[in-house]
Amino acid sequence: MENQSQVIVRPARNVRGSVRLPGDKSISHRYAMLAGIAEGSSRLENYSTGADCASTLACMRSLGVEWKRKDGAENAIEVKGCGLALAVPAGPLDCGNSGSTMRMLSGILAGQNFTSEMVGDESLSRRPMQRIIKPLSAMGAQIGSQQGRPPLRITGSALQAIDYTMPVTSAQVKSCLLFAGLFAKCESRIEEPLRTRDHGELALRAFGAELSCRSKGQGSEIRIRGGQRLRGIEARIPGDLSSAAFFLCASALFPGSRLTLPDLLMNPTRARLLEILMQIGLRISVTQLDEIHGEMAGTLEVEGGALKGATIAGGDSAALIDEIPVLAAIAPYTEQGIEIRDAKELRVKESDRIAAVATNLRRMGAQVEEREDGLRIPGCQILHGAELDSFGDHRIAMAFAVAALRAHGETLIRGAESAAISYPEFFSVLQQITEPS
Ligand code: S3P
Repeated sequence: MENQSQVIVRPARNVRGSVRLPGDKSISHRYAMLAGIAEGSSRLENYSTGADCASTLACMRSLGVEWKRKDGAENAIEVKGCGLALAVPAGPLDCGNSGSTMRMLSGILAGQNFTSEMVGDESLSRRPMQRIIKPLSAMGAQIGSQQGRPPLRITGSALQAIDYTMPVTSAQVKSCLLFAGLFAKCESRIEEPLRTRDHGELALRAFGAELSCRSKGQGSEIRIRGGQRLRGIEARIPGDLSSAAFFLCASALFPGSRLTLPDLLMNPTRARLLEILMQIGLRISVTQLDEIHGEMAGTLEVEGGALKGATIAGGDSAALIDEIPVLAAIAPYTEQGIEIRDAKELRVKESDRIAAVATNLRRMGAQVEEREDGLRIPGCQILHGAELDSFGDHRIAMAFAVAALRAHGETLIRGAESAAISYPEFFSVLQQITEPS
């Protein structure tokens, strides 16, 4: 395996070692944004090393937020907050490939008294933004777009509070609206019919905002009062569980594999992955559970065993949205296969992940049934190495590096550099923990 745009992955016979993951991407984005609009400085340790979180920091800098990397601790940054009023940017804010940056930052820009423009790369320019444009416009922001897609031109104003039930299950949209709620005159109420990751809620509390959250059916309801001021924090960001998913799935492929993952995010709204992997046959134990600013972290010890099947549907599809590509990539090696339903959102991620998974699995010789909202992948299949494509999508590049470990023969992954969007160190770490067969 080499660190170029084209990577060759050879079959392995085991996975062993210990991996400390860079900070969680979802938390890193939110902390960087809230640190920027807080009063006082924040020190964020173990900030994500991915290009997406660098895009968020670059946008914050263009909005007048000063930050610098700190020596001494790994990936630590110090951010000097500007308070709720940011500076007029000199030019368009480049969100790169990052939907999280564009959608969540929109909530903050909607409350500023200036006009700003947000642009993205080719993939981001295709992604749907109507899901934030509609509620932010109802709050009083003026938003121009290309038929609901980027670039976005946001003219902020003094916002009205909103009472909104989200039609799309999306934590990015929820956080966007909660951030906008900070700039509104009264109290906003946001309801999500299916529960999604709660990092926005926890981060707002960590930075000193008061909000009330309660479960409602399978979802939740959050209320936030406008005009609240935030204060800087010191935090260590737990390791990224969605990046760890690739190594967890790699371990699941080999009975007798053993892997230790210290200081890993254990937030219950993200940890459904661990239950599914245990159901599939991975043995997992968690020690040294800890909590920082409401986020749980722990050390994971995993051991490969049998590889049974699973069905992922309903609320699980929302809870596992970023891990479905790698679960699907190992599905042919399971006994009963894996069925994924209710996951239509995968079609509007960095790539059409349903189509990308089906295409790559078929190139490896697998049988796959592609459906509008998911996939059915039978188990007990034998795959061969092939020439695959990342489709410019970090999670597809990494998912198929994992699938390649149990294939017969070498696999070439084109566009492997896209792994750097969330996890630049992925291929070198994978090489360190896999024993070649
Ligand atoms: C994220 C939410 C999910 C996920 C993305 C990160 C977040 O997107 O796919 O990688 O940090 O809130 P959606 O909110 O669009 O489902």
